[in-house]
Amino acid sequence: MNTTLTLIKRPEWEYIEEVRNECNLFFKSHNFSENDSHSLMMTISELMENSIKYGTFSNPDAMVEILVKILRFQVQIEILNPVADSDKHYLHKLDRTIQWIRGFQDPFEAFIERLRLVSKKPLDDIESGLGLVRIAYEGKAVLDFFVDEKNVLNVSAIVDISNS
Ligand SMILES: Nc1ncnc2c1ncn2[C@@H]1O[C@H](COP(=O)(O)OP(=O)(O)OP(=O)(O)O)[C@@H](O)[C@H]1O
Ligand SMILES: [Mg+2]
Repeated sequence: MNTTLTLIKRPEWEYIEEVRNECNLFFKSHNFSENDSHSLMMTISELMENSIKYGTFSNPDAMVEILVKILRFQVQIEILNPVADSDKHYLHKLDRTIQWIRGFQDPFEAFIERLRLVSKKPLDDIESGLGLVRIAYEGKAVLDFFVDEKNVLNVSAIVDISNS
């Protein structure tokens, strides 16, 4: 059975649902519990949302790439999208957010702290800053990222499934 799922989608909101459905079938085919599939799909959709919100798709052929790999004790999720020099502000924030989450021993504390901060923000701020901390807490994932030599951002989420 194939243990890797690769999806390539246009950077549009409507494709998030399609990705969720395709991932759901993939996890079902590997006998994942409803709970595990749900939290993995939440992680994938939050990361795809970020790609669409913060990526730079100036080339009309530019896409979001979603890779899901099932290993013996882990699920590895990678979401790729092109970035531009003008995205530096977002990338710094991405870096700071991931470092900030790592500073908490328990991601639940980071989540609560973030909720507290968000409640003070204006409602129209697109950067509410909950997605990544939700991935760390609810999705139980370890986040990381790098930008390659072609200016493609790769955000990864690694989920331990050894106890599932
Ligand atoms: N794919 C990405 N490319 C560039 N910057 C990113 C990316 N993902 C996240 N970021 C940066 O990291 C910040 C935190 O992301 P996070 O998903 O936690 O929150 P958000 O997208 O601001 O709000 P929410 O997910 O709650 O709608 C973002 O505000 C953005 O500045
Ligand atoms: Mg987000």
